[in-house]
Amino acid sequence: MKAFDVAFGHPRGKVGELGGRVMAKLNAKVEAHAVDVLAPTAAETVLVLGPGPGVGLRLVGERAAKAIGVDPSQVMLDEARKRCADLIAEGRVELHEGAAARTGRQPGSVDAVVSVNNLQLWDNRAAAFHELARVLKPGGRLVVTVHRLVLDVSEYDLIKEAEAAGFTDARTSLQQHGGVLPPTVQLLAHVPA
Ligand SMILES: C[S@@+](CC[C@H](N)C(=O)[O-])C[C@H]1O[C@@H](n2cnc3c(N)ncnc32)[C@H](O)[C@@H]1O
Repeated sequence: MKAFDVAFGHPRGKVGELGGRVMAKLNAKVEAHAVDVLAPTAAETVLVLGPGPGVGLRLVGERAAKAIGVDPSQVMLDEARKRCADLIAEGRVELHEGAAARTGRQPGSVDAVVSVNNLQLWDNRAAAFHELARVLKPGGRLVVTVHRLVLDVSEYDLIKEAEAAGFTDARTSLQQHGGVLPPTVQLLAHVPA
């Protein structure tokens, strides 16, 4: 659906800005849950994939040494920059253009990766999982959360795909967030220490 994609999938123009405002409200609980599960510490560098309007990016920036947001949408990068302006000024948040399969990060440079509601948009999941395994430090962790209704792969296959890219301890769980929010599937995995 084109309008949906312009608002939420690959946000652009005024519709994308509006989509960003909607996502910032509707997905706030899901973002907060993923960041709580990730539990970034004050010494860690965290890659936040597809941060959209930057709600989860901000939460990570408040807890970690550095939060690096990577998103292909200029509209979302602008929204996230506004939302995290104080943390950017303090050097705790960075934003870059990129995508799951091309994060632009150095090998073994981040302690953890969190991705909320963008797995369904990865052009090539195998390439994306390899890229995330590449940029994680040994023992680094991955948290991927996605609304179940947009997930176009079984949880079993998702685990197998993560393992094929070098992740270990891969497992999934289902979360209910209450209200109108649909359930989410969460994938947790590590790269070997
Ligand atoms: C549905 S929004 C989710 C935004 C935010 N994480 C949330 O839950 O509200 C999807 C975001 O993923 C970004 N995106 C699109 N394709 C992507 C890709 N291949 N890799 C990473 N992010 C992507 C979009 O630009 C957008 O900001």
